[in-house]
Amino acid sequence: MQTDDDARARLIVALDVPKVEEARALIGRIGDEAAFYKIGLELVMAGGLDLARELAAAGRSVFLDMKFLDIGNTVERAVASAAELGVACLTIHGHDAKSLKAAVTGRGNSPMKLLAVTVLTSLTAEDLAEQGIAAGTTPADLVLKRAHMAEAAGFDGVIASGQEAACIRAAVGPDFLIVTPGIRLAGASLGDQERVMTPDHALAAGADYIVVGRPIAQADDPAVAARTFVRYIEAGLSERQSKTRSKD
Ligand code: C5P
Repeated sequence: MQTDDDARARLIVALDVPKVEEARALIGRIGDEAAFYKIGLELVMAGGLDLARELAAAGRSVFLDMKFLDIGNTVERAVASAAELGVACLTIHGHDAKSLKAAVTGRGNSPMKLLAVTVLTSLTAEDLAEQGIAAGTTPADLVLKRAHMAEAAGFDGVIASGQEAACIRAAVGPDFLIVTPGIRLAGASLGDQERVMTPDHALAAGADYIVVGRPIAQADDPAVAARTFVRYIEAGLSERQSKTRSKD
């Protein structure tokens, strides 16, 4: 049986709001229902790095979602600076092995985990074809290729849709992290997301963490919404355990 704390630690709330004061208000409204926060580009452009530093210093887990994509030298130096903030994890686009290896070098001895963004959850097979990726390549094909590349470069895990979690889990080491955005409850609005999954199915498929933004930030009561997601995580973990037991 999973403890409540274990399930709660697997929920990452995306603080996708335009101002630091709004992020603080959201954290306050969620209270103890979540303990892991993601700061992404919107908030970074409005003072989010100071908030990241402050939350990390206060013992909160912070996921800094910078999605770096640049030449190796620049990525290496940017990662080294990010490591000074005290955040728990950082994202880099997982497009090329050179910049992934540079990120690992830049991290040095910092405990900050490096996560490679495989294929954005807002993209479909048609979007990939439009980018010039070989016709017939599915998001899952590319996600798997990039997950292997990230693991080989020394990354701690990947960002991928719950729809790809099972095939990644079968292909990588047991400690390699799978973090899944694009999480929606059945029947909820998708917004711009395409490759979505419910939180329980994502966990049952092998995801370690889920990232939830609008369904919590825009809820009438974000604390109630966060608690609901934690319940679904618990259900997913139980399903995963019973699948493992029935295989043994
Ligand atoms: O509001 P929603 O739950 O769709 O937010 C998902 C969050 O996860 C956003 O902050 C988005 O930037 C992030 N993300 C994503 N897909 C990825 C990587 C990150 O949706 N592949």
